Amino acid sequence: MTSQLAGFYNLNLEDRLNELKRNSELTEEEIQLLRHSINALGFELSNRMVENVVSCFSLPLGIALNFKINGTERIIPMAIEEPSVIAGASKAAKLALPKGFTAKASEQIMIGQIQLVNVKNFQKAKKAILKNKKNILKLANAQDKTLIQAGGGAKNIEVREVKGKQAFLVIHLLVDVRDAMGANAINTMCEAISSKLEELSGGEARLRILTNLAIHRIVEAKAIWKKEVIGKENINKILQVYYFADADIFRATTNNKGIMNGVDAVVIATGNDFRATEAACHAYASLSGQYKPLAKYSKNKNGDLVGEIELPLALGIVGGATRTHPLAKVCLKLMKIKSAKELSEIVACVGLAQNFAAIYALATEGIQRGHMKLHANNIAVLAGAKPNEIKRVSEKMVKEGNVKADRAKEILRELRKNKRK
Ligand code: MEV
Repeated sequence: MTSQLAGFYNLNLEDRLNELKRNSELTEEEIQLLRHSINALGFELSNRMVENVVSCFSLPLGIALNFKINGTERIIPMAIEEPSVIAGASKAAKLALPKGFTAKASEQIMIGQIQLVNVKNFQKAKKAILKNKKNILKLANAQDKTLIQAGGGAKNIEVREVKGKQAFLVIHLLVDVRDAMGANAINTMCEAISSKLEELSGGEARLRILTNLAIHRIVEAKAIWKKEVIGKENINKILQVYYFADADIFRATTNNKGIMNGVDAVVIATGNDFRATEAACHAYASLSGQYKPLAKYSKNKNGDLVGEIELPLALGIVGGATRTHPLAKVCLKLMKIKSAKELSEIVACVGLAQNFAAIYALATEGIQRGHMKLHANNIAVLAGAKPNEIKRVSEKMVKEGNVKADRAKEILRELRKNKRK
């Protein structure tokens, strides 16, 4: 067995699977599973998307219901493996009706970074670069005609000094990327302007790439949960749970994980980059120097609960997998998305809903009851329950608060014995 399968990328699917079989302990059934699962996207498409493809890995795609955002009802697809997330978002959205959510995205400005090393005189270099701003922007904009035609393009330049083990002059190129995620456009622009920057600074361009910390691509969302709907006492309890996250990084981390359950699920369903989204959101949570919860809660004059979220979201509806993944296209259509701004508004609302659902449950009945119902169904199946027995076995386990395989088997035995009588 070896992991050095030279020329693997040149093989067709069958030959790749044969190579895998020879170089692993996978059984024929397991190889067959890989072979069949390629049908989710097909070999051609998957192999164009990434390298060395041998199969497709599927996630359940569910639908979050009850969302009304800026007055429009939206059916929201979520791709996720975790139980209770979609139900939680749908419940939170229902409790926010009839008004639902409001959301507003900023302009879609991304930042490209160019690191200049060996700059002798920072002040002189900075002056020269800023004096030539117009030319630099023109050079950047010559790289992407389509973006310019869509009204986007490089808009500004900022110069920073970054001091660490060495000191660097760092140029930020601010680019309006419109409906794209923007990584490709920005990286091309950064590379294109780097020799000009070298010339003006007397330094040497090293790194040239976007930053995922999209502080100029912010979306805000808000919802009000009425005291008559969720209960006055519960609002106080929810606030205590939120204050805990606000003061403690251990809790804030889990709180934000819950937000990302919702955010990522929509980001994945639309073919967007969830790793970029994760990196941006967590960095944004610590922008003040202390890692904070991404959503805030307060009580308004009426005593209702106000939830607000602010996220840096770099999402696209053109380019990349948003266009090549057939399901991503279907998901965007399902939500009736017309712009990247609209998509980020929806994603922020789902993040807020998800957080509300989690802290409402945590502040009141706890998270396990909801989880347990689904978990109990799975345990019942694993214990051998037939479709007509699952519900009775799982309900009994949940009622007893004892969701275990052994108990499921006992209940099944009792159930079948009684049936025979
Ligand atoms: C689980 O995936 C997410 C939660 O832990 C979030 C939270 O604690 O706020 C329930």
